[in-house]
Amino acid sequence: MKNRVYIFDTTLRDGEQSPGASMSVREKLEIALQLERMGVDVIEAGFPVSSPAQMEGVSLVASELKHVTIAAFARAVKTDLDAAAASLAKARHGRIHTFIATSPIHMKHKLGKEPAQVLQMAVDAVKYAKGLAKEVEFSAEDASRSDYGFLSEIVQAVIEAGASIINLPDTTGYAVPEEYQRLFSEVMAKTPNADKAVFSVHCHNDLGMAVANSLAGVMGGARQVEVSVNGIGERAGNAALEEIVMALSTRRDSFKLETGIKTEEIFRTSKLLSTTIGFPIPANKAIVGKNAFAHESGIHQDGVLKERSTYEIMTPESIGRKSSDIVLGRHSGKHGFTKKLAELGYEPDREALEKAWQRFTEVADKKKEVFDDDLVAIVEDALHASVPETWKLAYVNFTGGNTSIPTATVVLEKNGERFQEAATGDGPVDAIYGAVNRIVNIPGVVLEQYSLSAVTGGMDALGEATVSIRWENKLYSGRAAATDVVLASCRAYVNAINRMLMPMRKA
Ligand code: KIV
Ligand code: ZN
Repeated sequence: MKNRVYIFDTTLRDGEQSPGASMSVREKLEIALQLERMGVDVIEAGFPVSSPAQMEGVSLVASELKHVTIAAFARAVKTDLDAAAASLAKARHGRIHTFIATSPIHMKHKLGKEPAQVLQMAVDAVKYAKGLAKEVEFSAEDASRSDYGFLSEIVQAVIEAGASIINLPDTTGYAVPEEYQRLFSEVMAKTPNADKAVFSVHCHNDLGMAVANSLAGVMGGARQVEVSVNGIGERAGNAALEEIVMALSTRRDSFKLETGIKTEEIFRTSKLLSTTIGFPIPANKAIVGKNAFAHESGIHQDGVLKERSTYEIMTPESIGRKSSDIVLGRHSGKHGFTKKLAELGYEPDREALEKAWQRFTEVADKKKEVFDDDLVAIVEDALHASVPETWKLAYVNFTGGNTSIPTATVVLEKNGERFQEAATGDGPVDAIYGAVNRIVNIPGVVLEQYSLSAVTGGMDALGEATVSIRWENKLYSGRAAATDVVLASCRAYVNAINRMLMPMRKA
């Protein structure tokens, strides 16, 4: 189908390579199930050789998902390819995605190899992979800084060796759209067997052009787009799934191309990822940011009230966003609560539902009006608790003010035993984190980032705290929501510590 663009989602592989974005195996499965529900064609679930947890993550996703193709990432070496094949053993549709760098700069400085050696390694890897999996994708890493003649030589050879998907990444985010489009049209024209493969784009956002470049590559002939939810990924990230899909859909008149994405699932997927890894979505983020459909100026509001299309090129409903209604309050029953969650697309298991209900009753007690966005934060909080609670917050108390030193007392529980500590700090949050550090007693944990935002408006708004901590050169995130922002901050910190204490996720 010439008009079909395949969406290859790499949130769980390239996306998870963003500092602080690592996920537990269970979280990966949850995201993968939502990606499948949304209709992506391929899920790149991880880099199996890099750690036992990566292997476990890819294997679990491969065995649980029924419809989508699962890709496993591998360098062009046998150990990686064997690991990728093992992780895909239970996949209904498995793909090995192998790569080697083809630019002069990478071949010389990173690989220390001549082009002829690289070509041979690529062919050997693809042949070997083809014996292990039904489908093989080959990526020419740093393609946008490679010689087009060499690229077509290697592409022709790997297609002959059995690769049916050819990815030409802009690994460093260096390309500009016109140039990236030409890369595809020229390499495809120069490669005699190009019609035997689907060509793919994979763009990084270092200069803020990942989406524009990806779409240019599609105009040059590519029919697979590698994306990640919310654009997470190495450094400045990858092309954002939601932006690519909505650009193709909103400007169908120009692209004349289709994807298989149910766009109404986009917002929910974006939220799920954001809360899972604790990366807040910037308010002005295209498509999924809080302000993406907000009209502030009088002229704009007037225009939208008269005719929506004056300032809206797509509807919030088309990506599954609803305007925030007042939904529940302290008198709402559990039945109504569960029903409302289902309407919002959540069917948590019994344990998570119980946690969410507990949290809801606490919030509804303090807040007169509980909005859709509050409910989403509450239920995501409960789902986020899938990080094993090695440490559990039992009690927190703090005192402070402009004339006294902020002091906090914290009680944490571990294996049923309670531990209490107190500390002072620059403010209540600093004091609480100091007390938590004393209890947990792991030297070298550094708070890298802390942010607090209101989920909805008003004095009684639910506050959402996200933190990231660094330990042994790795970042771990945590999040929590509560009407009391200091409590939310404490829970978020404990959540990050628990995430840090989970079994290792990647090499
Ligand atoms: O950015 C990149 O080049 C990649 C791989 C596809 C090699 O992530
Ligand atoms: Zn990449």
